[in-house]
Amino acid sequence: MRAEQLATEVDLDPRYSGIARLRTETRYYDAVIDEIDGRRIRVGDHWLTDWASCNYLGFDLEPQIIGAVEEQLRRWGTHPSWSRMLGNPRVYPQIEERLAELLGAPDTLVLPTITQIHLSVIPVLAHQGTVLVDARAHKTIWDGCVFARAQGATMARFKSLDELAERLRSATAGPVLVCMDGVNSMTGNIPDVRRYAELCREHGAVLYVDDAHGFGVIGERGDDETSPYGSRGNSIMRYFDQPYDNVVLVGGFSKAYSSLLAFLAVPTVLKNRLKASAAPYLYSGPSPTASLATVLAGFDVNAERGDKLRAELHRMSMRVLNHVRDLGVFTPNTDNTPIIELPIALDRDLVDVSELLWQRGLFVTLAPYPGVPRDQVGFRVQVTAANTDDQVDELNAVIAELAAAGVFQEAREGSAS
Ligand SMILES: Cc1ncc(COP(=O)(O)O)c(C=O)c1O
Repeated sequence: MRAEQLATEVDLDPRYSGIARLRTETRYYDAVIDEIDGRRIRVGDHWLTDWASCNYLGFDLEPQIIGAVEEQLRRWGTHPSWSRMLGNPRVYPQIEERLAELLGAPDTLVLPTITQIHLSVIPVLAHQGTVLVDARAHKTIWDGCVFARAQGATMARFKSLDELAERLRSATAGPVLVCMDGVNSMTGNIPDVRRYAELCREHGAVLYVDDAHGFGVIGERGDDETSPYGSRGNSIMRYFDQPYDNVVLVGGFSKAYSSLLAFLAVPTVLKNRLKASAAPYLYSGPSPTASLATVLAGFDVNAERGDKLRAELHRMSMRVLNHVRDLGVFTPNTDNTPIIELPIALDRDLVDVSELLWQRGLFVTLAPYPGVPRDQVGFRVQVTAANTDDQVDELNAVIAELAAAGVFQEAREGSAS
């Protein structure tokens, strides 16, 4: 078979065909950005407002963080090209210690990306046991679970807490690992990890949570919090005031901290075990120095101004969400995080909707099947602290226009909309 034929096979595979069509028929894939100005981006001569950024705290544009890079580059060069197993610039232990303190975790291990962590750590932890994966978990978690299955683990999925309880009762091969998202990357909702962690504890299972979108945004609750997101952005575990006993928390800096780095919060004994078994620690190239520098500087800005930024983030997210709800438009987001998915009506075509969004100057994330269930195909906007109120006005006006044209689904009974 020729390689070209392989491409056709891939395009026809239902797992990829939705994305393949959007790639060829919309302007939202492979866009080449010529310039940015805050949360405005230029593609050719067309300016759009960026609602696809996950830089929730605006750290990508923060002068104090940008200014911290050069000193570290001069000290360490552009890239420490030892694998972490061989050698680590001192910034690594500094980051891991500060992160453990922020999370209130026993210890942490950082690796370049969450994707690498799932692929390498889930199989190590699952061993020849059982992985139970949330049906709505991120694709990268699924890939890690499939890889674990290929190495001898049994894999099953669950759709609800009740179904998980059932699966836990019938799981025969241990260890048992329960894998799920923290703040869900598509719905924006915050699962009650307290209940999941308790259930896992009851059954001697380990809960493995990917809080890519919660870290930096939600955190510990308290009387002095500046918004319902809580304080310090120290993740879903602290938001629910949960111990780390039977939990492996995974998170990343590539969203709220705008840096290429990811982490696991684990006991030191497990960290040392992973140092001998996880391929990205043993064999991969590490994150570039600039990313290590922006993480460290990000900790400082988070400590100094993070809660103020989160209050702004919450305020602007609520401006969009309240507008959507007032219009009677359905969004799965009931927990008021900055991730706002807007499914389109079942008789509408996402390609047509995307063309209108482009003309109106909104850069969004299109959400095709199977990334979301068929009845939730639509688009997603993310609010960041670097957006402005004028931009929110502009977004809300386009949402109202689309709602009037019947593009969206109506709010459902029982949803917050
Ligand atoms: C929930 C979740 N996990 C993992 C990832 C991938 O993270 P990384 O870029 O660190 O591999 C993403 C990115 O979109 C995500 O949303």
